[in-house]
Amino acid sequence: MEEALQKLKAEATADLAAITRASDLEPFRIKYLGRKSPFAQLMRQLGDAPSEDRPRLGQLANELKKDLQLLFDEKKASLVQEGAGESSGIDLTLPGRMQPQGKLHPVTQIMEEICAIFEGLGFTVAEGPDIETDFYNFEALNIPAHHPARDMHDTFYVDDSILLRTHTSPMQARVMETKQPPLRVISPGKVYRCDSDITHTPMFHQVEGFLVDTNVSFADLKGVLSVFIAKMFAETTPIRFRPSFFPFTEPSAEVDIGCVMCKGKGCRVCKQSGWLEILGAGMIDPEVFKKVDYDPELYSGFAFGLGVERIAMLKYGINDIRLYYENDLRFLRQF
Ligand code: PHE
Repeated sequence: MEEALQKLKAEATADLAAITRASDLEPFRIKYLGRKSPFAQLMRQLGDAPSEDRPRLGQLANELKKDLQLLFDEKKASLVQEGAGESSGIDLTLPGRMQPQGKLHPVTQIMEEICAIFEGLGFTVAEGPDIETDFYNFEALNIPAHHPARDMHDTFYVDDSILLRTHTSPMQARVMETKQPPLRVISPGKVYRCDSDITHTPMFHQVEGFLVDTNVSFADLKGVLSVFIAKMFAETTPIRFRPSFFPFTEPSAEVDIGCVMCKGKGCRVCKQSGWLEILGAGMIDPEVFKKVDYDPELYSGFAFGLGVERIAMLKYGINDIRLYYENDLRFLRQF
């Protein structure tokens, strides 16, 4: 019996050493450690052994079983670690494959930054359609048919009354039509104009903002825009409001900041003026309020619209707007 146990141990150890595939482990376990294994049979025969030999043989058998189980567990662990399972065929020693990680386009980053600043001032975001009606893009904004201001917009028409919006201002009318003051709204999005050179692309981004309440004054507009410019550029950025004209605001202004390139000394970017125009703004025209059934005697408000690409160009010192839309990763990876 002792001999039979030793022989079984030698046989099992050799068999186990020869295993190289994880799938061979289970048949081995059944053969040597299962209920019908020769080992289990020997254990059953233990009862027939002479009583004085029984304790010694029993101990031997138990040790053998323990040793075998240990060897089996070690083998299993090492096979799993090597990943030598035949079906996987994976070589875990190979270096990993990098997953390319995308990030936000610089224009999107700046747009989110702009919205975050205004959200901090209590504005809420409202987005509108890129394909717009003539009514919201022009009519509701006090730009009737044949108004000369339409020429400024280089509009892409879909048909007589449908077009690609030329600015985000239609959102003024869309929001006011459905909500009552007080309103503080910021509206980012794509706009389209048939124009293309180093400072114009046929599609670009604007952020519209407007506030409507009782007793809103130009000083409120100036305050809000000053806070925005200080946060977007630098605390000390000089600002100036220049009289201008938009059919939907009265009075209207264009807002300039001191040139971020030459710090106001005069350079190619600011055309030697020391100033850069960054947005259009004004007090909402009473005609716009009338179109949405607001009482112009009761309410007043301001609106502004800024070009996102332009702000991003100034912030990053980029001189050709088309770089944003060439999808050259060498350019995009810098942001
Ligand atoms: N919509 C104007 C433009 O695209 C900008 C603007 C918005 C001006 C709001 C005044 C008020 O040029």
